[in-house]
Amino acid sequence: MPDFYSEAKKLFAYSQAIRRDLHQHPELGFQEVRTSGIIAKELREIGLEVTTGIAKTGVIAMIDGAKPGPVIMLRFDIDALPISEQTGADYASQNPGLMHACGHDGHVAIGLTVARLLNEHRDQLSGTVKLVFQPAEEGAGGAETMVKEGALESPAPVRCLGLHIWNEKPLGWLGVAAGPVMASAATFSVTLTGKGGHGAMPHQTIDPVVAAAQIISAAQTISSRNTDPQKACVISFCSIHAGDAFNVIPQAMEMKGTIRAFEPEVEQMAYKRLDEIVRGIGAAMGCQVEISITNITPAVINDPQTTSAVKQAAQTLLPDHDLDERGRFTMGAEDFAYYQQKVPGTFFFVGSTNAEKGLIYGHHHPKFDFDEGVLPRAAALMAGAAVELLKS
Ligand code: NI
Repeated sequence: MPDFYSEAKKLFAYSQAIRRDLHQHPELGFQEVRTSGIIAKELREIGLEVTTGIAKTGVIAMIDGAKPGPVIMLRFDIDALPISEQTGADYASQNPGLMHACGHDGHVAIGLTVARLLNEHRDQLSGTVKLVFQPAEEGAGGAETMVKEGALESPAPVRCLGLHIWNEKPLGWLGVAAGPVMASAATFSVTLTGKGGHGAMPHQTIDPVVAAAQIISAAQTISSRNTDPQKACVISFCSIHAGDAFNVIPQAMEMKGTIRAFEPEVEQMAYKRLDEIVRGIGAAMGCQVEISITNITPAVINDPQTTSAVKQAAQTLLPDHDLDERGRFTMGAEDFAYYQQKVPGTFFFVGSTNAEKGLIYGHHHPKFDFDEGVLPRAAALMAGAAVELLKS
């Protein structure tokens, strides 16, 4: 195994320059025109065969090893968020209202650094590394579109790897685990229709607000009473709208929220119980009920064999790091799960906060920023994991 960490540290100025440039020019999902232009240019500059325009702004490049072997895929997401940056950094966003607040600027820099690391060691690779730079991870369906447009075909990878720099943990922490690591995400929408009327004469109305209050309370029992206490399920009501005036009981009420779980059976149970609670209580309170529940992303469930390769790379390249193998790292979701539905793979995390430098804000916060020391660590681990995986 090449000493990818030393080599990635030598490329730090390159990784940092890419990251800071992208940070200044964030672009939303499927609009990453400048970003994907830079990715394609950088990959071509080191002599790679590059395909652009997959899922609009996706970029794919191939690194063919000197020896024959399997095809594996490394995926990096590239999009930003509709957030106004408040970091005050020299390299802060120049696009008003847009920000790389999840660290995908870092992911692109890591991906381009990995391309250089692996390309330098082609002679030691047995097989092919397919680099996939994916647009629109932030809820717009980037991974699904990439899969539909053939990202997993010609050549078809047998394993896939993805990563996230992780501001829930300090620099030096590595999250590499088999099994579930990120939750599935579903959205739900409820409309309760009662009978509006005067706020002083509730007996003449059917009050959808009171019905909603009982539904919200009862829904809390899905995690506390219906879910195995050793598993996890989140149901959050995140948007509630009814009424305009202080003295009018509204005719109808709308609620939206999200459901998160690791296991498909817990997810299905939560859908069923929420549906029963909403319909049952809504009807008992005299309301007409509409409810829809839609899965957006499956859970990220890591393949044990692929995870062993990542772990092996971590122990070889970053031996003094804090390797956390517990899994179930977050109830957040990640569309890398779509690739894992077709190709066994592993998604891992690389800690990136630094309290001494004040880099403590979480993902999607307007003050989000990370310790750039994560860039060589993550690039080394991804490159090392690719080499390990091709070996096994
Ligand atoms: Ni992200």
